[in-house]
Amino acid sequence: MLRSLSFCVIASLCTSALSKLTNYTIDDTSPAVNYTPNTTFRCDPNTCLPQWTNQTWNGTSTLTQDPFLVSFTGSEVYVFLEANAGVIFNLDGHNVSLWNDPYPSDIIRLAYSNTSMPSGSHTLLISPAHPLSLIEFDYLI
Ligand SMILES: *[C@@H]1O[C@H](CO)[C@@H](O)[C@H](O)[C@H]1NC(C)=O
Ligand SMILES: *[C@@H]1O[C@H](CO)[C@@H](O)[C@H](O)[C@H]1NC(C)=O
Ligand SMILES: *[C@@H]1O[C@H](CO)[C@@H](O)[C@H](O)[C@H]1NC(C)=O
Ligand SMILES: *[C@@H]1O[C@H](CO)[C@@H](O)[C@H](O)[C@H]1NC(C)=O
Ligand SMILES: *[C@@H]1O[C@H](CO)[C@@H](O)[C@H](O)[C@H]1NC(C)=O
Ligand SMILES: *[C@@H]1O[C@H](CO)[C@@H](O)[C@H](O)[C@H]1NC(C)=O
Repeated sequence: MLRSLSFCVIASLCTSALSKLTNYTIDDTSPAVNYTPNTTFRCDPNTCLPQWTNQTWNGTSTLTQDPFLVSFTGSEVYVFLEANAGVIFNLDGHNVSLWNDPYPSDIIRLAYSNTSMPSGSHTLLISPAHPLSLIEFDYLI
């Protein structure tokens, strides 16, 4: 990384190379998120208390007991959710993390991040570790 950055300085390419490192957010309501049909509950100001929805990104979150898949393009990923039991993260077909919420049913947290992926298209499969686990997905950066 450092070596390519200094090469970048020498080659005067820094501005164009670094300007590509920008974050974008995929909400739980985005079409980039594929849920198992009929097994989700959308938490928004019509269905949940405003004291809760005002803590979620863009006012919504989605609860599910089934795996769901998010497709995105980039080199880093940050996933924000909460869960009442373990959550398994499978990146591009490999189980990369098992996360347990330290304080279940409390607040939305950063549950998985990866800052060392090859730049390009990726799929992240997010699954409950146990059949009765409930995941509340808010957003992904
Ligand atoms: C993107 O967002 C993550 C998580 O909030 C943050 O750690 C990172 O510094 C941000 N990157 C850029 C380029 O803004
Ligand atoms: C979801 O529910 C709709 C309406 O009840 C039904 O037509 C559809 O077949 C269901 N899909 C699945 C995957 O269960
Ligand atoms: C959400 O709303 C509650 C109740 O109105 C308030 O106490 C809390 O500070 C709000 N939180 C945020 C992040 O806006
Ligand atoms: C935020 O929520 C509004 C209202 O539901 C929706 O129209 C909009 O597309 C959402 N924005 C993003 C970036 O998801
Ligand atoms: C990855 O996790 C899933 C879900 O728990 C599990 O069924 C599968 O066996 C795991 N795969 C590997 C290679 O460990
Ligand atoms: C991040 O992604 C890379 C490449 O896909 C993988 O090898 C690595 O194990 C991942 N790291 C984490 C913390 O999941």
